[in-house]
Amino acid sequence: MAQPEYASKLSVLFVCLGNICRSPLAEAAMREAAERKGLDIEIDSAGTGDWHVGHPPDRRAQAAAQRHGVEIGHYRARQVTRADFDRFDRIIALDRSNLRNLQAIQPANSRAQLSLLLDHLLGHEGTDVADPYYGDEAGFETCWAEVSAATAALAAQLWLNR
Ligand code: 4NP
Repeated sequence: MAQPEYASKLSVLFVCLGNICRSPLAEAAMREAAERKGLDIEIDSAGTGDWHVGHPPDRRAQAAAQRHGVEIGHYRARQVTRADFDRFDRIIALDRSNLRNLQAIQPANSRAQLSLLLDHLLGHEGTDVADPYYGDEAGFETCWAEVSAATAALAAQLWLNR
């Protein structure tokens, strides 16, 4: 019997620490990249920490997204859950610390394949998207540049493997 469409739709979750700076920008950049490729995928983001649950993205992240034509003010932070490991095909960490934390809580035999975002960008493998929270506007611009390059590469990989 044919599977319903939602069952076959690829799903990707981006995870940072607070879900107010890096992963919302990665989510937004991935939505743009998927749209450009004509990829119909589920995209979401979450944090390993719970300090900002329910909050909109940091104003500096919203401003960075706006400078690149994307509105993220309606996003709301949430914490990653054990259920996410079965809801998503791919869970992609913004840095190695969050990747280690995800590996530590991944339930045995769950569905998600974990990876580091910059492992998808040739020449940047094994490196972190730096946390811009305690820095200045320039850090958010660098963050946008990194997440948009990496999500474009990821979308191209997913398109080839579709
Ligand atoms: P994010 O940045 O992980 O990129 O969302 C942070 C946001 C908040 C905190 C740390 C990092 N914090 O400690 O509250």
